[in-house]
Parts: sequence; structure tokens; C-alpha cells
Amino acid sequence: MGKNILITGGAGFIGSHVVRLFVNKYPDYKIYNLDKLTYAGNLTNLTDIENCPNYNFIKADICDFDLMKKIIEENNINGILHLAAESHVDRSIKDPFVFAQTNVMGTLSLLQAAKEVWDGNFEDKLFYHISTDEVYGTLEFDGTFFTEDTKYDPHSPYSASKASSDHFVRAYHDTYGLPVIVTNCSNNYGPYQFPEKLIPLFINNIIHKRPLPVYGKGENVRDWLYVVDHARAIDIIFHKGRQGDTYNIGGFNEWKNIDLIKVIIKTVDAYLGNPEGASESLITYVTDRAGHDLRYAIDSSKLKNELGWEPSLQFEEGIAKTVKWYLENQEWLDNVTSGDYEKYYEKMYRN
Ligand code: NAD
Ligand code: DAU
Repeated sequence: MGKNILITGGAGFIGSHVVRLFVNKYPDYKIYNLDKLTYAGNLTNLTDIENCPNYNFIKADICDFDLMKKIIEENNINGILHLAAESHVDRSIKDPFVFAQTNVMGTLSLLQAAKEVWDGNFEDKLFYHISTDEVYGTLEFDGTFFTEDTKYDPHSPYSASKASSDHFVRAYHDTYGLPVIVTNCSNNYGPYQFPEKLIPLFINNIIHKRPLPVYGKGENVRDWLYVVDHARAIDIIFHKGRQGDTYNIGGFNEWKNIDLIKVIIKTVDAYLGNPEGASESLITYVTDRAGHDLRYAIDSSKLKNELGWEPSLQFEEGIAKTVKWYLENQEWLDNVTSGDYEKYYEKMYRN
């Protein structure tokens, strides 16, 4: 049966992959991509599907409660995939207010709008909230993993705002019976990621022979997942997940930052025809990120055992595809890094 699905943050990195997957895979669904188009949102991420008959774009702010109600009501929305957020930890350290505004108040506005429009008629409805593993805090180097039962322990203003939004989503389920699902995913990588995050930032800096700012000693560990595999997981969970449940999504793919950085350098240098390791001289150890979480690692066995999802791509293949994409799409990189971002970059790394 056709559905009318509202995807928030669909012009961002992960959202654009989710929009693309749903538009292409479900021609009988109507897909509404709602995005404020902040510095991180870019409609050129979706030029390949923008003319599809089942795709619609709405420029709006999720914090605008009356507008959210109107959009859900007028378009008969019965499924919400909520990705819109401020997503960069370093920005949250410099300017936390917008994180509370968008991630907490924006999520609350969307929840209340869905609750009021759906008005207890919850059959075939779903509010799916896309969250992060950062809400669980940090792990030691002891082989443990974040599971769905790990206690919340956020450390950055970003993760605190995401944790708060997760609590509101679950509160709407427990208090009002709103049908919800929450997923907590590890670090994503792939095409269309804004080049302030580690992998695209470093690829872009290598291209321009700029310093590669490694925080602290580069010993922090992240669990990397190819973004298309995250979008696949969201599709499966949206259609088959249990309402009220949480699912962790991760790659079982842990990398120490400095080791990952050396893989990026090797791959970019090979594509650019540079001698092996030529760009290693760009590595610059800088002051550590405040409150820098040591290690993230997700146990996604619930998702595998219950819904059969597994990452489809080996990391070596994923990183090669990713590097190739950024090198072949330098115009995209130049466009998104022109103007405001360049000023921000100067402020962050050149003082
Ligand atoms: P992103 O920063 O690339 O994109 C966020 C999008 O939200 C942008 O298009 C932006 O314009 C839009 N947006 C921001 N504020 C808005 C508002 N007030 N109203 C409407 N739209 C607004 O983020 P991303 O990396 O694609 O992350 C998407 C979601 O996934 C976020 O909720 C994030 O917390 C979560 N997540 C990200 C990762 C990751 O590794 N990137 C991992 C796990 C979870
Ligand atoms: O774990 C999921 C989270 O992953 C998402 O919820 C966030 O939205 C997403 O931004 C990401 O957060 P991280 O802080 O882990 O990602 P980031 O790319 O900013 O940093 C990855 C690691 O690299 C981290 O340990 C910090 C380090 N780093 C990052 C940058 C930008 C550097 O050493 N130098 C840098 O310049």
C-alpha cells in the first residue's frame, strides 16, 4: 500500500541517501523531503532524483510547530523519518544553543505535531527517530560494545541534545502511545558528507595540501559504517521494526583515528598519482577536542538476528569508493566549502 512519508533533514548527508533509496525503491510512496537548508543541507545532493514524480521538497524549519502540523495534515503523512539535526560535535562545543533548539525543541515540535494530527488514530503510523551511538558516552579499550541496554551518558552538547531528543521520543510513546522507533547508529562515511567531518575534511585537505588536524594523539576509536548501509538499515527497520523498540546500527568496524587517517592518505595519494605516503607530512597534531570520547563500538546483533540486516560493504571497498567520489566531485566540495564554511574553518583551525 502507498505511504506518504516525511523525511526531515533529507538534504543533508545521511538524509539524502535515505531519500534517494525511498524514492527509487518505492515509486508508489509519496516522499516529502523537509529541510531548512542550513550550511549542511544541499539540494545538489539530490539532483539525480529531484524530478521523480513521487518526490517533493519542502523548505521548512522543524521548530515551526504550526507549519509542521499543517504539513503533516495536508499531505496525509503516515510515516516520519526524522533525521534533521545539527550534527557536528565541534560546532556544538562552540555554539550549543542551536543544538538544543533544533535537536531538542525541533524534535519536540515534530512529535507534538504528529501526535495532534494523528490524534490517537495510530494504525499504520510511525515516527522513526534517527539517533546516534554518542548518547551512550564512551568505552574503554576493553572489547566491550554499546548495546540497546547501555545507560545513556552523553558528554558533548551535541550528544546531550540527541540524548534529550531520544528521551522525548520514548516519552511520547510511553505517555501518549505514539508509535515510535529509535535507532542509534555509529559513524557514517560516504559521498555527500559535509567536509567538516573527519573523512571528507581530510580528503579535501589532502587535495589542497592543507594541514590535517589530528586531535590529541589520534588514538580515539570510531566504528565506521558506509552510509548506504545505514540507509538500508533504516528501510528495513521502518518496514519491519517493532514499535517502541530501539535498534543499534553499526559496522563492527573499529578504527583508531591515526590508522584510518593513514589509510585515507594512502588511498588519496594513490588516486592522485603521488608517491606512497607523500601526504603524511600534512599530519598536524593539534589540541584535543574538549570532552573527546575515547572509543565508540556498536553491537548491532539485535538488528542482525531479528531483522537480518548486515553491512554489505567491506571497509576497504567503502573507503576506496568514497575517496574516488570526492576526487571526482571536487566541484561539489568547492561549492559547499565556499563562503561561510571557509570563514568557519579559518576560525576553527587557524587561531
Ligand atoms: P547533516 O548535518 O549532514 O544533515 C542535517 C540536515 O538537517 C541538513 O540538511 C540540515 O539542513 C537539516 N536541518 C538542520 N536543522 C534543521 C531544522 N531546524 N529544520 C529542518 N532541517 C534542518 O547530518 P547527518 O550526518 O546526515 O545526520 C543526520 C542524522 O543522523 C542526525 O540526526 C544525526 O544526529 C544522525 N546520525 C549521524 C551520524 C553520522 O555519522 N553522520 C551517525 C549517527 C546518527
Ligand atoms: O558516532 C556517530 C557520530 O559520528 C554522529 O552522531 C555525528 O553526527 C558525527 O559527526 C560523528 O561524530 P564524531 O565526532 O565521531 O565525528 P567526526 O568526523 O567529527 O570525528 C571523528 C573522529 O576524528 C573523532 O575522534 C574526532 C577526530 N577528528 C575529527 C576532526 C573533524 C580529528 O582528529 N580531527 C578533525 O579535524
